[in-house]
Amino acid sequence: MNLSGKVLIVDDDPEFGLVAQSLVELEGLSAHLVNSGSEALALCDQEHWDVVLLDLMLGDISGLDVLREIRRRSERLPVIMVTAHGSMETAAEAVQAEAFGYIGKPFRAEELKSAIRRALEWRKQQHNGHHNHPGKAIGSPSIVGRSSAMVAVYTAIARVAATDSTVLISGESGTGKELVARALHDNSPRSKRPFIPVNCGAFTETLLESELFGHVRGSFTGAMANHRGIFETATGGTIFLDEISETSPAFQVKLLRVIQEQEVRPVGAPESRRVDVRIVAATNRRVQDLFSAEDFRRDLLYRLGVINLELPPLRERKEDIPLLVEHFLQRFNSRFGKTITAPSETIDWLCQFDWPGNVRELENAVERAVTLNVGGKLSPDDFMQFTPTPLARVAQAQNVPANAQSFASENVIAPASPFWVCELPKTLEDVERQHILAMLRFTKGNKLRASELLGIGRYSLYRKAERLGIDLNQED
Ligand SMILES: Nc1ncnc2c1ncn2[C@@H]1O[C@H](COP(=O)(O)OP(=O)(O)OP(=O)(O)O)[C@@H](O)[C@H]1O
Ligand SMILES: [Mg+2]
Repeated sequence: MNLSGKVLIVDDDPEFGLVAQSLVELEGLSAHLVNSGSEALALCDQEHWDVVLLDLMLGDISGLDVLREIRRRSERLPVIMVTAHGSMETAAEAVQAEAFGYIGKPFRAEELKSAIRRALEWRKQQHNGHHNHPGKAIGSPSIVGRSSAMVAVYTAIARVAATDSTVLISGESGTGKELVARALHDNSPRSKRPFIPVNCGAFTETLLESELFGHVRGSFTGAMANHRGIFETATGGTIFLDEISETSPAFQVKLLRVIQEQEVRPVGAPESRRVDVRIVAATNRRVQDLFSAEDFRRDLLYRLGVINLELPPLRERKEDIPLLVEHFLQRFNSRFGKTITAPSETIDWLCQFDWPGNVRELENAVERAVTLNVGGKLSPDDFMQFTPTPLARVAQAQNVPANAQSFASENVIAPASPFWVCELPKTLEDVERQHILAMLRFTKGNKLRASELLGIGRYSLYRKAERLGIDLNQED
């Protein structure tokens, strides 16, 4: 696409500013560089611009304030924020202030060029009468995190929210897939219309079909009346198809047809009806695995995954843990009318875990800790008072997470979370073996005491130990 336009670059770091300027000019665009927020605002008043490239850290005013000022003057001037990693108060804040997109500093030439190209294309669409939002990506509830992985997620949201493209969100359980789906909806022109989440895994095939597409009276046993499907009730809005990979291949064919034809045919109805919904789907399987999966149709995957948003697991962005803890602490403090704080030692302690249940697990842990806390300051103890597994209780008695090494054995790896101190065992035998070993360590090798705690006789313990290859004398 041949694009033209005027780009205003705002940066007080001349090295960056000049590089950006020459890159923009090499694209055949005109670029003007200023080094302060006040100059930028003055120029916005005087001249017409097509894109602003705005550094977040400016000497005189914060880039975020400049962004807000620009928004007050013009709703439709795309602003791309340039953010040195970690310098943002919160990336979400900038998205809330309606930045069009972000690029990190230092940036790759290609990144800068494609961000500007997208902004100009969007600008052109606006002139052609498509009035979309400039790219506000995060409404409430807020998405927290400023790791580069999350900034990439915000950028993607900002870029695709306003379009009608189908989006496939993938990520482990608890990484925020539903939250992101809502953000896509809230920041789209469909935001005034319904957002309807459907957990596809929770229905049988027939029920799912009739829930989504509707049915006519008498079309199957139990269909007592006509029923409008979700595709019709969500008209103008967004359907969130959660756990899409749990659907049957037969259903997948039907869904594919709906997406292609933009029509649904209620079960038992003679003809199809037109629908206007955006589909956002989610799966906790990895997309590359779905490509080779026998139970997932590739043609549907191509259709759904026009845009694939992959959410990173929390263990790969542990730098977000402190922010998330603060965020949840605020939420639960205000919910329970408390003013609990989290000292930095506790936050550091929480950062050492892998959190296999991701943000949801962390959120639950903070909620429980806030409920249990008495002194006003969160401590590791508040996170360890409730432990769901006997193993974890043993671990707790031995103060394991605080000092994981003392519990080290070949079966125990670095603690994943305060509640999952062990690697998940693979078979029932593994569970038995690990549990017996843990009891023996807990009783410091006292077999009688261990068998009592295990609720079995002493000789059963010997027999089990032999079968499981546990050397009882070694465990003294
Ligand atoms: N980045 C984030 N910032 C704030 N809260 C978050 C974030 N990510 C997840 N959460 C919170 O964690 C919980 C789980 O998020 P969500 O339900 O969106 O996860 P999910 O990926 O859909 O999980 P599942 O696959 O188990 O359904 C929610 O309460 C959500 O508000
Ligand atoms: Mg979910």
